[in-house]
Amino acid sequence: MTPILNTAIVLLSAALTVSCAAEPESTCTDFIAPVTVTAPSYGLQFPPFENGYQATHFLNVATNRDAGLGPSPLKAPVNVTQTFDISARYCTPAKTYARDGKGGSVMLLTHGIGFDKSYWSFGNATYNYVLAATRAGYSTLSYDRLGTGLSSHPSAYTAVQAPTELAVLTQLTTLLRSGTLGHRIPAPATVVHVGHSWGSILSCALAAATPSLSDGLVLTGFTHNATWMNDFAISTGFRLARDAAPARFAALDSGYLTWPDALANQYAFFAYPFFDPAVLRLAEARKQPFAVAELLTEPLVYPVVAAEFAAPVLIVVAEFDLIFCGGACGIPGSSVYVPPGGKAGDAPSAAFFPKARPFDVVLQPRTGHGMNLHYNASSMYEVTFGFLRRNGL
Ligand SMILES: *[C@@H]1O[C@H](CO)[C@@H](O)[C@H](O)[C@H]1NC(C)=O
Ligand SMILES: *[C@@H]1O[C@H](CO)[C@@H](O)[C@H](O)[C@H]1NC(C)=O
Ligand SMILES: *[C@@H]1O[C@H](CO)[C@@H](O)[C@H](O)[C@H]1NC(C)=O
Ligand SMILES: *[C@@H]1O[C@H](CO)[C@@H](O)[C@H](O)[C@H]1NC(C)=O
Repeated sequence: MTPILNTAIVLLSAALTVSCAAEPESTCTDFIAPVTVTAPSYGLQFPPFENGYQATHFLNVATNRDAGLGPSPLKAPVNVTQTFDISARYCTPAKTYARDGKGGSVMLLTHGIGFDKSYWSFGNATYNYVLAATRAGYSTLSYDRLGTGLSSHPSAYTAVQAPTELAVLTQLTTLLRSGTLGHRIPAPATVVHVGHSWGSILSCALAAATPSLSDGLVLTGFTHNATWMNDFAISTGFRLARDAAPARFAALDSGYLTWPDALANQYAFFAYPFFDPAVLRLAEARKQPFAVAELLTEPLVYPVVAAEFAAPVLIVVAEFDLIFCGGACGIPGSSVYVPPGGKAGDAPSAAFFPKARPFDVVLQPRTGHGMNLHYNASSMYEVTFGFLRRNGL
């Protein structure tokens, strides 16, 4: 009897401890937002892939020695109005952060290629940007980009294109700012756009096209040099997602692509040995496809000068980023390189934000492109929030 009783007491006290510790620091709401956008859609000069051979051949042609010399793969655009389901998660600190009596600061988080919104809250506190942000007093709005997670998966040829994705982000921002995104989501005092990789490209494009919609930019996993994007494309082999992971992606059209396995994932997103292999395996298990048209339409929105964006801009880049720095961001030739004794404004990327006040660059040590999935992920959080606080956001 006694041992069982003791166990029960232990369990009871453990339960009490858990419930105390679990007193919510923040509350999160998951919802689907119908988002209607009008954006140019570009027809493609090639038919949909019938099989993996055609997709890999397309990659051969797109990256060979004569790549870029032929005609554009894009036809003239037509404006299309469409409504998509966008899966979003809004998290807010338990003690609502009020600045000047208004609705607080919201970070609008846009994830990159290969992920969905779970990138921002990948695991425990070591890998959880959302948790850190709400602890620091910010609300967050993360969402699955078009063609990922629980959002709509329209044609990977004609719909999942950069201008349409930008229109989705723009419309989400407009709904958020006006307090009409959801009944539990008050209009915020400020909206800071935070991106990772492709999400940074879109956030940057928003700041360039509609600067009044953003009060600040944090661009992670991002520079202004596209030289090494092909390394990423080649590392995927343009595997059809439906062939590579039929259990998850059988229903997707052949324009949805992915890479073959965890080691290909490591090649593009992780810097060895600065990550936990279990995290890599989880990232692979959760990986999201990308759309062939997404890559082909990237030049329409990147790189771009945000000529009128007069708010704070912070670029946080991984020391060993493959895709945006060819594996080394802190050396001359990198668009975020600041010479010894120089200022952030000396980095080539600063020229893309002529009115930013201020512009800053941070090199995140011992991380690869998937910055939030490395051991040193959390040190980026305080750096980011410190920058925002110093600048009144
Ligand atoms: C699409 O709409 C934009 C904005 O209204 C307009 O400037 C553009 O000319 C339109 N493009 C086409 C192809 O109709
Ligand atoms: C998060 O989990 C990992 C492994 O599962 C562990 O090593 C790490 O200490 C944890 N971090 C925190 C802050 O709990
Ligand atoms: C990109 O980086 C390469 C290699 O360092 C460099 O030669 C090139 O000028 C850079 N391009 C831009 C647009 O910064
Ligand atoms: C982790 O990042 C922080 C902040 O960027 C940096 O100061 C620190 O040296 C890094 N730690 C390691 C082990 O690289």
